[in-house]
Amino acid sequence: MPDRPPLPSGHVVREYAFFIVSLPMVNHASMTAQLIDGKAIAAKLRQQIAQRVAQRRQEGLRTPGLAVILVGTDPASQVYVSHKRKDCEEVGFLSQAFDLPSHTTQEALTELIDRLNDDPSIDGILLQLPLPAHLDASLLLERIRPDKDVDGFHPYNVGRLAQRIPLLRPCTPKGIMTLLESTGQDLYGMNAVIVGASNIVGRPMALELLLSGCTITVCHRFTQDLAGHVGRADLVVVAAGKPGLVKGEWIKEGAIVIDVGINRQEDGKLVGDVVYETALPRAGWITPVPGGVGPMTRACLLENTLYAAETLHGD
Ligand code: GUN
Repeated sequence: MPDRPPLPSGHVVREYAFFIVSLPMVNHASMTAQLIDGKAIAAKLRQQIAQRVAQRRQEGLRTPGLAVILVGTDPASQVYVSHKRKDCEEVGFLSQAFDLPSHTTQEALTELIDRLNDDPSIDGILLQLPLPAHLDASLLLERIRPDKDVDGFHPYNVGRLAQRIPLLRPCTPKGIMTLLESTGQDLYGMNAVIVGASNIVGRPMALELLLSGCTITVCHRFTQDLAGHVGRADLVVVAAGKPGLVKGEWIKEGAIVIDVGINRQEDGKLVGDVVYETALPRAGWITPVPGGVGPMTRACLLENTLYAAETLHGD
């Protein structure tokens, strides 16, 4: 085996073993998967961030600040944004909320971003996606100063991740790396299959897993034989936004299954992109929906904001 490259800086290896929950076997005779408890891991991370914020205050240092911009009235976005603002309060961040009408112009948003870029009390700027169709999201995301891009979406930050020198890393893939650490499994040499090639999850996930020594396959809408690819995966990350796309029978015995999908069924129940019930007896580890990836994405947004305040900005 060749020598392993070192992990990039800022990659904290933590002790997570106690978050892995062995599910009771009583009602599920054939169940083998261990549940990766994203809710608990995220709560612990928020607690650590809150402690650091309190310590900074005692040391006379600035309170980290996050500005969250919501344009329009998309109900899912409203829920996500209200959670993000609540998280800020919990850890003691300064939270600035901008709720703008659907008809907000590109110029007005650009001006707001410029103002926040120049505001020394703001460490992070989050522009909630999707935006109304008349707005150019790419231009606006590029307008956010890279050192305040706590979503990690700016081409500068994606490029740094691609070149193995990450600074601000996209939150969902970063949160998933923390969940993977919690399993205690060695990722070097694993066959990792990512289902979905979005800018927010699939593409940066591929870069993170490549950095961790996995062999990567990215599947997308034109992929032939999705079942075949998934069946060869030691680790599968599904972020397609299609409920039940990945069947439990496809999962390789003992594989790690990370389900990024959050889909609301007609009966109101939230389900992932993986058929959970049939994946459970085959997987080695699995994230639940809800309570898996979602809370970690939010916690990583806080982690990135603290990182920007501590490492990228002055006091
Ligand atoms: N919309 C869905 N997920 C995200 C995210 O992680 N960040 C932003 N800004 N918008 C989103």
